[in-house]
Amino acid sequence: MFRTSTASVLASSARMLRQPLSNSTSTAAAPFMVRYKNAAAAAATTRLFSISSSTMSPPPPPQYSSSASTTADAERHPRVLVTGSLGQLGSGLVKELRAMYGNENVVASDIRKAPDEFMASGPFVYADVMNYSMLERIVVDWRIDWVVHYSALLSAVAEKNPALALSVNMAGFQNVLELAKVHRLRLYSPSTIGAFGPSTPKINTQDLTIMRPNTIYGITKLHNELLGEYYREKFGVDFRSARYPGILSADTPPGGGTTDYAVDIFHHAIRHGHYNCFLSKDTRLPMMYLTDCIKGTVDHLTHPTPLPQSVYNIAAVSFTPEELTKEIQKHLPHFTISYPDSAGIDFRQAIADSWPSSLDDSMARRDFGWKEEYGLEKMVKTMLNKIQAQVEAEKKSANNDSTTAAMAA
Ligand SMILES: NC(=O)c1ccc[n+]([C@@H]2O[C@H](COP(=O)([O-])OP(=O)(O)OC[C@H]3O[C@@H](n4cnc5c(N)ncnc54)[C@H](O)[C@@H]3O)[C@@H](O)[C@H]2O)c1
Repeated sequence: MFRTSTASVLASSARMLRQPLSNSTSTAAAPFMVRYKNAAAAAATTRLFSISSSTMSPPPPPQYSSSASTTADAERHPRVLVTGSLGQLGSGLVKELRAMYGNENVVASDIRKAPDEFMASGPFVYADVMNYSMLERIVVDWRIDWVVHYSALLSAVAEKNPALALSVNMAGFQNVLELAKVHRLRLYSPSTIGAFGPSTPKINTQDLTIMRPNTIYGITKLHNELLGEYYREKFGVDFRSARYPGILSADTPPGGGTTDYAVDIFHHAIRHGHYNCFLSKDTRLPMMYLTDCIKGTVDHLTHPTPLPQSVYNIAAVSFTPEELTKEIQKHLPHFTISYPDSAGIDFRQAIADSWPSSLDDSMARRDFGWKEEYGLEKMVKTMLNKIQAQVEAEKKSANNDSTTAAMAA
């Protein structure tokens, strides 16, 4: 049941993500050097990873000569595996965990090739969450203690490919949950506001309420919540989950969710001065800035004692596209926005309409001290500043390129 791995699903997964599949026959078996940048890595300077020619054999963990290897087990930092670490949320979380526990103690993974700077900051391995043996090999080889499970297909992508969403979101989760049971791992796997449904009370939605999701994303996530709770009760698995709202980030692009408009709008505002929104102007949804999401996740993940419940709502701010536009216009008065007319309603409107507009997260505040730092005003200012800086850097780099080309001609 848990060992799902079929060529067709994998091929479909790779196509969906517009990435080539890792191919066992094309992967070179040569070792290569990885240089670490931060302080924790300074002691270890450079390390060797050998890339295996078999997809069943991830690179072996490095042999440490630093203090980490001589520290008693009881005192050592937890070793954390992050799945889906190249997505919108994963890279920021990996960075934060590496700063806390040392680069070598946080193993990032995904089914896509990592950018150079990501490879340079610590261990990265290929891990397809639909392959139980592959995951188990990583857990054993790297002596993993905790898994943060971020691999998933988000709401809009899942709705376009329900079969793949069932495989990645459910079978993938079942694999990591079973691993958590067998190897006594702590498992953090986020849920979503998408796990609620149209019959859920919309305002200040509580942790425990009516849950009848009508999207494939929501169904898979609710399945995961319930299964995680079952494993916690039945087998004592330390399963932790928070229902994230829509997450805004400037550095990493969103992965195909219904709340993506709240990121896209900033790029369009700065680059084009206009945005065609795919949601109606009064669609109110809960949202959060990435920094808050990472902090809340780390606080939840690292909470030392068992928590009274497995799954928590966490929330920061709720707004509509119209309210967000007004806040952006305080900084960019000429920015304009248009909304779909009745003939052009986007399929994501129905998804958004089935979700709550605000959450009650008092249990998370009580149990692990959840508290957001970013309200609408601070979030908008930060997003605009960061994206403006990116645009200026792009212009500078384009100018340098054209100067170099002109000099070469
Ligand atoms: N971003 C949000 O706004 C948001 C909101 C609510 C919940 N969440 C949840 O947070 C988690 C992370 O979300 P995200 O925004 O970073 O998603 P994302 O789509 O940006 O990234 C998901 C990652 O999973 C990887 N992946 C896909 N199939 C895989 C497979 N078979 N094996 C291994 N990896 C695979 C992808 O390559 C991708 O890098 C997900 O569980 C998501 O449901 C996100």
